[in-house]
Amino acid sequence: MAKHLVICKSEDLEEAGKGVRFDVPRLGEVISAFAIRFEGRAYAYLNQCAHLPVQLDWNEGEFFTKDQRNIICATHGAQYDPKTGDCFLGPCQGKALKQIALIEQEGVISITLD
Ligand code: FES
Repeated sequence: MAKHLVICKSEDLEEAGKGVRFDVPRLGEVISAFAIRFEGRAYAYLNQCAHLPVQLDWNEGEFFTKDQRNIICATHGAQYDPKTGDCFLGPCQGKALKQIALIEQEGVISITLD
């Protein structure tokens, strides 16, 4: 049976606000990831820029641009669509963040572990 990893409560993810970081165990490694909420829906991505293998947030949990419309990498300013993870501006334009499927149910946000 698939195992679930609880990330946070639904209320912990504010609309286009601070994200929640979490670790994903994958193939014997632990990979940093994050969850955000945008237009009411929760999304999760690996916390790795598509430009260079660095985490997106210098200040923990701050993933959005000032206008709260896009995800931004703090290192060189690449911007990503919060719904798809597609990079549309910056050095990795045309690439994308790796999205992780999440489940939001009964006030809890979780992912399924392989
Ligand atoms: S490392 Fe993210 S834009 Fe360069």
